[in-house]
Amino acid sequence: LLTSVVLVVLGYLMGSVPFGLILARAFAGVDVRAVGSGNIGASNVSRAAGKLAGVVTLLFDAGKAALPMILTRSLLRGSYGDAAAGHLELYVGVAAFVGHCFPVWLRFKGGKGVATGLGVFAVLAPLAALAALVSFGVVFAVTRIASVSSLVGTTVCAGGAILVHGWGTDVAWGALLIAALIFWRHRGNLARLFQKREIKV
Ligand code: G3P
Repeated sequence: LLTSVVLVVLGYLMGSVPFGLILARAFAGVDVRAVGSGNIGASNVSRAAGKLAGVVTLLFDAGKAALPMILTRSLLRGSYGDAAAGHLELYVGVAAFVGHCFPVWLRFKGGKGVATGLGVFAVLAPLAALAALVSFGVVFAVTRIASVSSLVGTTVCAGGAILVHGWGTDVAWGALLIAALIFWRHRGNLARLFQKREIKV
């Protein structure tokens, strides 16, 4: 149990690292929280510091969930067995996702979880994550609106993960939790969309 708690806490701390904030500062010397939507995610980093900075943020924000998950599973598989290591992998991923949304370093004012959620599902259900990325790309090419593209991608990802793993599984519950939190974190975007005031990238 101690190992599990330590790993989940480490996952949370990894997820808490605000790469968007760091990279916007490094690429363009700006505080991303003072630009555009004020969000620390890849979309707003693109607005603040350019496309490359946005893509690097996406990769780092996804990687900070995916990497500790992969490490957890490969380190514990031998001593815990594959099933237990798989459960812990999911918990570490969810912890990193929660860390991104509510980072201890930023007084719990974090991002919306899209990239970090994608990182979680890149490990748990790679095909669902790929489908999400493609649907994000298609909707974004048409609308240029990050929030709409992200929410479509999130729905595809969670639906795909549930299809792959089946209802009632741990992964399905994780997918529902992550999707619900992503939608909740977009409530400001949803309000702007309904008022036709949403900002584009
Ligand atoms: O990933 C976040 C995106 O869906 C919305 O970002 O900056 O347009 O609020 P933003």
